[in-house]
Amino acid sequence: MTTFKNPYLQGLLAPVTEEVTAHDLPVTGRIPSGLRGRYLRIGPNPLGPVGPDGPVGPDGPVGPDGPDGPDGPDEDASYHWFTGDGMVHGIRLRDGRAEWYRNRWVRSRDVVERLGEPWAGGPLVEGFDQSPNTHVIEHAGETYALIEGGSRPYRLDHELRTLGPCDFGGTLKGGYTAHTKKDPDTGELHAIGYFFGWEHLEYTVLSTDGRIVRSVEIPVADSPMVHDFALTQKYVVIYDLPITFSMRLAEEGLSLPYAWNPKHPARVGLMSRDGGAEDIRWIDIPPCWVFHTLNAYDSGSGSGSGSYDDGDRVVVDLVSFPSFMHGGRLEGNPPPTLDRWTIDPVRGSVRQETVDDRAQEFPRVDERLLTRPHRYGYTVTAEAVVQNQAGEALMKHDYVDGSSETRLFPAGSGVGEAVFVPSGSFSAEDDGYLMALTFDPERQGTDLVIIASQDFAGEPVATVHLPVRVPLGFHGTWAPDAA
Ligand SMILES: [Fe+2]
Repeated sequence: MTTFKNPYLQGLLAPVTEEVTAHDLPVTGRIPSGLRGRYLRIGPNPLGPVGPDGPVGPDGPVGPDGPDGPDGPDEDASYHWFTGDGMVHGIRLRDGRAEWYRNRWVRSRDVVERLGEPWAGGPLVEGFDQSPNTHVIEHAGETYALIEGGSRPYRLDHELRTLGPCDFGGTLKGGYTAHTKKDPDTGELHAIGYFFGWEHLEYTVLSTDGRIVRSVEIPVADSPMVHDFALTQKYVVIYDLPITFSMRLAEEGLSLPYAWNPKHPARVGLMSRDGGAEDIRWIDIPPCWVFHTLNAYDSGSGSGSGSYDDGDRVVVDLVSFPSFMHGGRLEGNPPPTLDRWTIDPVRGSVRQETVDDRAQEFPRVDERLLTRPHRYGYTVTAEAVVQNQAGEALMKHDYVDGSSETRLFPAGSGVGEAVFVPSGSFSAEDDGYLMALTFDPERQGTDLVIIASQDFAGEPVATVHLPVRVPLGFHGTWAPDAA
């Protein structure tokens, strides 16, 4: 019997053991009546081996506090936060009320088997299927739970029931990705997928009716991890960075066999949106790691139509780490900073500047401005100090005047990614709300806070009190009701 405690199963990361449905949630403040839709957030929530009575088995709850840990005691040490079974959480807002909260495991075939439920079938990548845990989005009238690295997206219904895996009507060759970019001009969804068994990345464009209408194989060496990318009106910006698949870690049984690889050169690629892999302008950069792009846009005087013109510049706002993930683990990495990369495709240079050197992550933008210049960006920090008070915080960055605001939450609140929701279809940038989950240690429950973005440090306009704790997770979406 081991006494090892996996850090990804402790505290606010500890999985919950039950699926809950609650109606008419208590609210402090007033939910704006214009917010009609669902706030969705997904994250890892490993499901233990389950008995015939479901997640809460006859011997008590499963999971780290239950009989066997997430995958049984022998595998407890190998569990990695990035690989836990996905659970999606949803809060439905309408007419000033918080109508319901639901949390549901995303039912991959493996999760279905452990829950003792029937498998409805669907187009899996044979031998490679994981319950998506990284992002949940809406596209083409569907709700998709997403994960990278080779697994298929899963479709969910309005009440978060799993409908099954999806290959976009037979048009998706393998797995997909978690971080997509919706072009506000066309409504198409751009993505870059990767898989350790491929010698390329797969760039795809998903149409507004949910079919892949364009794909480009981008050759790469060493099977790099590619968590995100950037999109401008002219270019696809590709990060080929030194975290790569490790056969050694795979053979050792690590659930996430990727590691920092100093032999893999770091480079950024610019591909014209209508170009092919042979057209990519690759530019070497100093080794670093990027999980997330805030936004990117074209700047300068070049036409950029099919060739690289002197005067073209591509501005990419992102969060970068000096290095990351040694031996497949996350701990002990240098902190990330909010950076701006200005790429000159003709000279083949990337000017890298730090915009804010405080440790932060989960950058978001008003997504109506994806591919175009933005003024504001929103991030999360676990290490904030405001008027001598230490805690966690949301940050709002003004890229025009260079200022920032910090909105403090108590230490231990685990405040998560802030999703921007415009107050109306034609409202200006930053005229809207930020939604984030934050844990209330006194109540031992999680809140959905709704902040007026233009009163960033003021009282939330509303706080929805959920009946349970939501474990720390990854990304979320506001899915408005259809008009
Ligand atoms: Fe991410």
